[in-house]
Amino acid sequence: MINTKRWHGESVEGLREAAETLRGGGLVAFPTETVYGLGADARSSSAVADIFEAKGRPSDNPLIVHIAHSKQLEELVLPYPQLAEKLMERFWPGPLTIVLPVRPGALSPLVTANLPTVGVRIPDHSVALQLLAQSGCPVAAPSANLSGRPSPTLASHVMEDLNGRIAGIIDGGATGVGLESTVVELEGEQAIRILRPGGVTEEALREAVPDAAVLSGSDCGSAEEQPRSPGMKYAHYAPHGELTVVQGLPDDVVRYIRRQVEDSQLRGEKTGVLAFTERFFDYEAELVLDLGSEQRLGEAAHRLYAALRRFDEAGIGRIWSESCSLEGIGEAWMNRIVKAAGGRIVCVSDSAALEGEAES
Ligand code: TXA
Ligand code: MG
Repeated sequence: MINTKRWHGESVEGLREAAETLRGGGLVAFPTETVYGLGADARSSSAVADIFEAKGRPSDNPLIVHIAHSKQLEELVLPYPQLAEKLMERFWPGPLTIVLPVRPGALSPLVTANLPTVGVRIPDHSVALQLLAQSGCPVAAPSANLSGRPSPTLASHVMEDLNGRIAGIIDGGATGVGLESTVVELEGEQAIRILRPGGVTEEALREAVPDAAVLSGSDCGSAEEQPRSPGMKYAHYAPHGELTVVQGLPDDVVRYIRRQVEDSQLRGEKTGVLAFTERFFDYEAELVLDLGSEQRLGEAAHRLYAALRRFDEAGIGRIWSESCSLEGIGEAWMNRIVKAAGGRIVCVSDSAALEGEAES
């Protein structure tokens, strides 16, 4: 156990000490616009090894490198397509990680899990940017949670998982987006492949580069294939209770979840429901959490991980979650909730009925 220091995001002295800690090879958790990251000097193998150790993360899952300024790119990566530059101009700083060819020797090989590429981004958060600039090093940072747990959107979530395992944390309050960055790789100048949906939506990518094709998850081959983004194959974001995602027409979903909750309560289990405001009052479980309106999915993104952690705090054994549309940030939201459920998803309306709904 080490004594994990807490610095305030607005403290000049705190930021200076945090940057010095990073430079000295220590692990520092910091807020970004997506989720809290757990940072280490990406050039130092011993520092990066400590990240994997602290999180209990599998070593074949590469880390995203965070920089303060695109000028830092030159020393980290080899020449890349102009398409990447267009994306940087449009989305950096912001929740877009771009996978680029790594410059041999520039980073610890642990960062890239020995891949010939590295994912890079400039976060859109003043505390993160100040820390990155002051440390002067490229910072490898996965989400600051224990591997498999929901990502942290508050400093208290980081402390829950990593207190005593890391040198310090900068508390910058709640993160903005609430889901991780979108990870993309490029196929020459022609195509962008989304490896992980996230804060930058598929629609926004299409609009930014209308001449390029944008290939999304469903175009990325079968589930049995070696995933192109190694992290996507692991169980993720899971609450302790057994979570099931329910899809279908709203009335069918409510009826199904209500019945499941009743049966579960009869068995003496503590139940939870994750619902949109539109149907929040339709459920009577031990803990019903409100995702906000399904008309504003940004709110659901912002609230998801904290909600999953609250079910744990309340000792909920069985959880059911409503689903949302795959538009905009909805795609990333559904990606995360289905992963959190370990793939447990039930469809309670027949597909003809659902298509009818989509047309209306
Ligand atoms: O928003 C975010 O991206 C947060 C904040 C802290 O920046 N970070 C984050 O890191 O979510 P992590 O380690 O939890 O997820 C990184 C994802 C994994 O799915 C990993 O497999 C993928 O990015 N990735 C990293 N480097 C890659 C590479 N060279 N090629 C393909 N996928 C890569
Ligand atoms: Mg993560």
